[in-house]
Amino acid sequence: MKQAETDIKEAQTPEELAEVQRIRRQVFVHEQQMPDIMEKDRHDDFAIQLLAYDEDRPVGTLRLRWLDPKTAKIERVAVLPELRGTGIGRSMLESVEAYAKRKGAEHLVLSAQLHARPFYEKLGYHTEGKPYEEMGVKHIWMNKKLA
Ligand code: COA
Repeated sequence: MKQAETDIKEAQTPEELAEVQRIRRQVFVHEQQMPDIMEKDRHDDFAIQLLAYDEDRPVGTLRLRWLDPKTAKIERVAVLPELRGTGIGRSMLESVEAYAKRKGAEHLVLSAQLHARPFYEKLGYHTEGKPYEEMGVKHIWMNKKLA
């Protein structure tokens, strides 16, 4: 399968943050029929937002927020459907992991949609506990200890 030429950047300008919301809206609200809160919520004012680019086009996003000085949570991981399976999700996770490590994180945690569990497992995340329902979708808690 084609591997995308992925460039990962922090979204900071109003235009870049609008792209983050546009991708979330397309993936979570329209495709997955999740509530509008997936597009923007109160945590967005404090979280680090990443954008992945295919050439010059923003095609993927995620955010990172700190739960405590050693624990960061990854949320809102989304890649546009036509670019899935080309390594963009992996690049974003690797990039945010390196960033979190530089900033002192010892653990990364996330609440994975159950269908995405194998994706996170490939990247070294382990499940914790049993699946639960959130916003009508089955999720499972996952974590990764950073060396
Ligand atoms: N099931 C099993 N394996 C998967 C997978 C899935 N759903 N999604 C990706 N993988 C595997 C890939 O095959 C690849 O394996 P390889 O390295 O052995 O080739 C590896 O995980 C990395 O895949 P990648 O191409 O980087 O993933 P992606 O760019 O398609 O992103 C998601 C994965 C989950 C972010 C993407 O499918 C997505 O945006 N889904 C919709 C939104 C969503 O559900 N987000 C997760 C919220 S918790």
